[in-house]
Amino acid sequence: MAETIEALFDEDRRFAPPAEFAANALVQDDSVSKASHEDPLGWWEAQASSLVWRKKWDSVLDWSGAPFARWFDGGKLNVTESCLDRHLADSGDQIAYHWEGEPGDRKDITYAELYAEVCRLANALAGLGVEKGDRVAIYMGMVPELPAALLACARLGAVHSVVFGGFSSEALADRINDAQAKAVITCDGAWRGGKIVPLKDMVDAALEHTSSVTSTLVVRRCGQQVSMSEGRDHWYDELVTQQAPEREATECDAEDPLYILYTSGTTAKPKGIVHTCGGYLLGVSVTHRLAFDIHDDDIYWCTADIGWVTGHSYAVYGPLANGVTSVLYEGGPQYPAEDRFWEIVERYKVTKFYTAPTAIRSFMKWGDHHPAKHDLTSLKLIATVGEPINPEAWMWYREVIGGGRCPVVDTWWQTETGQLMIAPLPGVTETKPGSATKPLPGAFADVVDESGQSVPLGHGGYLVLTRPWPAMARTLYGDPDRYVETYWARFSKPEEDTWVYFAGDGAKRDLDGYYWLLGRVDDVMNVSGHRISTLEVESALVDHPLVAEAAVVGRKDDRTGQAIAAFVTLRGGTTGDGALLTELRDHVAKRIGKIARPASLVFTDELPKTRSGKIMRRLLRDISEERQLGDVTTLANAEVVQEIADKAAERRNSED
Ligand code: PRX
Repeated sequence: MAETIEALFDEDRRFAPPAEFAANALVQDDSVSKASHEDPLGWWEAQASSLVWRKKWDSVLDWSGAPFARWFDGGKLNVTESCLDRHLADSGDQIAYHWEGEPGDRKDITYAELYAEVCRLANALAGLGVEKGDRVAIYMGMVPELPAALLACARLGAVHSVVFGGFSSEALADRINDAQAKAVITCDGAWRGGKIVPLKDMVDAALEHTSSVTSTLVVRRCGQQVSMSEGRDHWYDELVTQQAPEREATECDAEDPLYILYTSGTTAKPKGIVHTCGGYLLGVSVTHRLAFDIHDDDIYWCTADIGWVTGHSYAVYGPLANGVTSVLYEGGPQYPAEDRFWEIVERYKVTKFYTAPTAIRSFMKWGDHHPAKHDLTSLKLIATVGEPINPEAWMWYREVIGGGRCPVVDTWWQTETGQLMIAPLPGVTETKPGSATKPLPGAFADVVDESGQSVPLGHGGYLVLTRPWPAMARTLYGDPDRYVETYWARFSKPEEDTWVYFAGDGAKRDLDGYYWLLGRVDDVMNVSGHRISTLEVESALVDHPLVAEAAVVGRKDDRTGQAIAAFVTLRGGTTGDGALLTELRDHVAKRIGKIARPASLVFTDELPKTRSGKIMRRLLRDISEERQLGDVTTLANAEVVQEIADKAAERRNSED
């Protein structure tokens, strides 16, 4: 970590907001930040009038049950009334989504059309017996029916659980079981890189291991043959199209759950992050407006898949609550060619663009000639999320995509935070390449040492959040103890009623108080901006009958941020060959999903262990990143380390 810190501190480039941008920005000075610091709750309360409420709240924040927060308690609303109904009178004809399919088909969906689709789908779900509080699993590609599915659940007060379409059927089954989902909304397939991902087949496989699901709705997208189980499976176009395009929204409490979204933690079992209606919608809509400087005429494109929290908050709820026109693109950035994104930016004259560092690094690798083919001058602001962005990629993004004239908005947040927490105010904050800058208005962070003491400026430590915020996770589904243990136990002092949220990230603050994110400090890897737990991959490996033991670490990777490096010991002295290596990598992909397939795998007779039997991951990381090996004196089996290092080097050479 020390090296990274030194390198960061050599970074002295800074960029003031471009004058023209600043002159038109929603926020042009520090008055908003000041107001939020002076009276955080009063500030959030004032923001809350931007949403549609059926009944006003009794209290802004009830923190008496900390760390379980209640925001806007007593308030009643249905989030779809803020996202849809209220736009109908004045902007029903405005486009909500310019949708573009991977094969090139296109469809513009107005707010009025989206409203009607959501109502029809809500009616269909109600007809299938879905009621307020029921959980509905959503496992789809990026089709227009996907945002409609989230909103239809919300319209009924049902709780959606979106499972990213890249996850395996086993991962889907686990999530369905954990939430006891009653229905599944899916597609026959999804287009990805010119190929069909057979979603319905995966649902069929998952449903063999679940008992809670009584019905599925299947969108016809790819048209390939799928099997439909009589009485359980329904074609979307047959059932939904015939429904009435109106449905009264179900009144919800501000604190009723809106959705569950599973994310990786340090154990093999994913955590079901629970977000609620009122505070969540407020947090995402306010931060969307402030960080992306949203104006009525914006064409906004968040490239994230709706299966991740970025898609939930900043491709669905935030932009719709703010009545903005968004782009929704189904497929991959390389299809049919590596300029697909830039072609889309040019076609729709995108003004605000939000993507991930891993994508930016791919664009860099593919070459400047791809963006150069297109007119990108419509862009006014470009943003990133998901992992630390290295200064080189930040500068490339600024110059080549933003033409040197767009603020670069690096946003730090998490599935758990629901909303952006650390990001520049683009009309005010001077940016530095590689820094997410400072907490947004209404957000409060700190960097602390092992004992929870704030470290002086210029030093590094653990990133914490020191005050509750509206879109914060309320709990882990079915596991409140784990919620407290994971996020609140480490630095809080309950006896003093001091509650501190531990994000699991390392951070450094420079002398100007800017935050520089340094990555995870727990056993969670960040691959292409997606959190994958080392333990989850290890469990998938040892699940294979030939594997005795496995250790997994994240190693630095130029394109994906981190890549998964696996070390495997086989049962009964078997030696692994190339075929088994491929089989094991595929096995992980099948168990978890392709994103978790190890980039490299080394067979070893033993894993390096301490005398108490703990696997020394630190050494494996050193080996994977070809570093000088650290201290091995505490090892029970020191000689094994060199052996593994040699094998890893051998493998690298054969892969090169
Ligand atoms: O490690 C941080 C990294 O991604 C983690 C959150 O992952 P997830 O819940 O999947 O949400 C991703 C999208 C919000 C964080 O703990 N991370 C996210 N954004 C940044 C980041 N690291 C550095 N800079 C960022 N802008």
